[in-house]
Order: sequence, then C-alpha cells, then structure tokens
Amino acid sequence: MENILIIGAAGQIGSELTMELRKQYGDGHVFATDIKEAPAYIKDSGPFQLLDVMDDRHLIHFVIRHKITQIYHLAAVLSGNAEKLPLQAWSINMNSLMNVLETARMVEEVKRVFWPSSIAVFGPGTPKENTPQVTIMEPNTVYGISKLAGERWCEYYFNRYGVDVRSIRYPGLISYKTEPGGGTTDYAVEIYFEAVRKQAYECFLGENTRLPMMFMPDAVSATIALMGALQDEIYFHNGYNIAGFSVTPAEIEAEIKKYIPGFRVTYKPDFRQEIADSWPDSIDDHYARSHNHWQNRYGLAETTRIMIKEISKLAIG
Ligand code: SER
Repeated sequence: MENILIIGAAGQIGSELTMELRKQYGDGHVFATDIKEAPAYIKDSGPFQLLDVMDDRHLIHFVIRHKITQIYHLAAVLSGNAEKLPLQAWSINMNSLMNVLETARMVEEVKRVFWPSSIAVFGPGTPKENTPQVTIMEPNTVYGISKLAGERWCEYYFNRYGVDVRSIRYPGLISYKTEPGGGTTDYAVEIYFEAVRKQAYECFLGENTRLPMMFMPDAVSATIALMGALQDEIYFHNGYNIAGFSVTPAEIEAEIKKYIPGFRVTYKPDFRQEIADSWPDSIDDHYARSHNHWQNRYGLAETTRIMIKEISKLAIG
C-alpha cells in the first residue's frame, strides 16, 4: 500500500499531479500539502493540510504519522522571482530539497522521492538544438544553479544512501487549471488566458524566442511513468531530459489567431529575456523515452485547441 505526500499541491504541477495520483492510488492515500490554501477540488477530493517544507521537524512528523512511502516535492521559487531575491531563492530551493532528502534517508518507509529539475540547468555554453542529456551545464541564473546543485544532491543521496530519488528536467509547462508564478516560461500560459479574457497580450519575451514547452497532461504522464519504472530501469538519478515541442511567442500567437482572429500581441522583453536566451531551443529526450517507456502526445496545435476551449469555459464560469 502506498501513501503519497505531495509538497506544493496548490501549485501548477502539484495541483494536477495530485488529482492524477488520487485516481491511481485512491483519494485517501494522496496527502496534498502546501504553505498556502489549495483549490477546492484538491481539498474536497482527499486529505489536504498546510505544511511548510522548510520546517524539517513538522515534515518528518507528518511523514511518520501518515506512513508516507513516496514524496513528491514540487515547491520552488521559479526563475524570474529567483533573480529578484537570489539568496532567499537559493535558501528555499536548496533547504527544502535537503529537508526532503534527509527525511527520506531517515524514515525507512519512504521508498521513493520525486523532485523536479528543469531546462534551467543548462546555460549559454550548452548546445541549443536537441540539447543532449549529458552535456555542458553552466547555468547562469539562481534558479538554474539551484536546480543543478539539486540534481547533484539527488544523485549523491542515491549513491551514498540508496534513496531512490527520481527527477525530470521539465521544459516550460502549459496548463489551464493552476497558473504558474514567477517563471520565464509563464508567458506561454498567460498568453492563452489574456487571449480569451482581453484579446490582447503584452509579452515579456521577444517574438522569436524559441523555448522547449510541454502541455501539462504530458508532464503528468512522464512523471508517473518515471515514478512507476523499475529501479534497474532508472539510469539517471539526477534528472531526465524530456521534450514536448519547441515554440516561439510568435508561433503561439499565430496558432491562437486561428480561434481568436482579433488577438493582438505586443512584445516588450524584460529581464526574463536574458534568462530565456540562456536556455535550450529544443531537447533530446531519447533516454526518458527508452528508460521510462514514455511518449508525449501533444503538439502546439492540440495544446492550443484545448487551452482555448478550457479557458473559455472558465471565463463563462
Ligand atoms: N518554467 C520554469 C521557469 O520558467 C523553468 O523550469 O522558471
């Protein structure tokens, strides 16, 4: 019997992963937690409790009390916000991970840990096209440095203590249930919401900035495939590259215009342009596909169709 702890269940990834894991493991076995209140569908469908992952004592008590066997640690300060408060972001991103790794090391019942890495682990010196799994990694953002350091710690805990921690280098994630906050790839969510709500959007990246993106259902299925894989199928305990599609703001704009012809985008790059410019254009993820038996399903056209449809429903109420 598995009992799963989700840290950051009110966030963009956590809210959707919680619902999927509840379907698989039973509502009562997936314990959603966050430092802030969660949406009603999380609170109404199973256990939810406020939990601050920075409080290591509370964390370990929670894990023991609820006989937790798997931890998904999804709380983080994203790339744009991290540049505004570098030391705080470093402290939150690193100390929260260390608290989770230490808890998993100390509590024998915890068999598996998931922690998200990111394309932000790559830097300006990394090959931009089809970025390989193993390559030059010299991130120059606080967020990227914290993710790369986190990857090294995950691998260390696996090698040294046998903590079965698994990770994915998520690309930008596009979703309509919970909006992200403070990231560089957030434009690819905002653009859809603003298209439906206002038929206009001011984009904080330049129109030809190409970045790897993925529709949330693919990210959820990749995560579940990775966590379900047998231990000897997992070769990388630092973080697997995964890829959906690569896209620019102008390409998303053109796709949205097929549904909302009057949509207008203005381009006003801010400090996040430099962050985006340091990240890959596209990702080679053949290891994730062969080791985790996973395949993405959604491209830009299908993602756009569903985003417009679902956000329009929300707008109507
Ligand atoms: N989507 C994240 C960000 O933009 C990167 O992992 O910060």
